[in-house]
Amino acid sequence: MILLYEVMVASGHRRQGIGRALVMCLVEEARAREAGSMWVLADEDNAAAVGLYTSCGARRRVPDQSLFVWSPIRLLS
Ligand SMILES: CC(C)(COP(=O)(O)OP(=O)(O)OC[C@H]1O[C@@H](n2cnc3c(N)ncnc32)[C@H](O)[C@@H]1OP(=O)(O)O)[C@@H](O)C(=O)NCCC(=O)NCCS
Repeated sequence: MILLYEVMVASGHRRQGIGRALVMCLVEEARAREAGSMWVLADEDNAAAVGLYTSCGARRRVPDQSLFVWSPIRLLS
């Protein structure tokens, strides 16, 4: 399984296909390694991220999935 942790393109260079090229490199790597799946987390309201991942062939599988975060971490002590 491959986790795409995050992708970012410098603000002056967006909408030129760089993000898609980066993500598709990893998709190709996942294929070459015969990974069972590849996944990434994105905020619903991040239209660029949702558009990017969708345009690279990813589909939302679990619509109500939520991310739980402890922040700041000192709350744990
Ligand atoms: C998300 C991000 C990496 C996209 O990079 P990019 O190089 O601009 O993306 P691309 O030019 O390769 O776009 C590929 C497709 O993604 C979609 N897309 C990209 N930006 C979009 C936007 N602002 N709104 C809607 N769809 C968008 C489009 O379908 C686009 O194809 P098109 O240009 O032919 O319509 C970039 O916007 C970014 O760095 N954002 C800030 C960091 C971030 O939020 N990263 C994701 C964290 S999960």
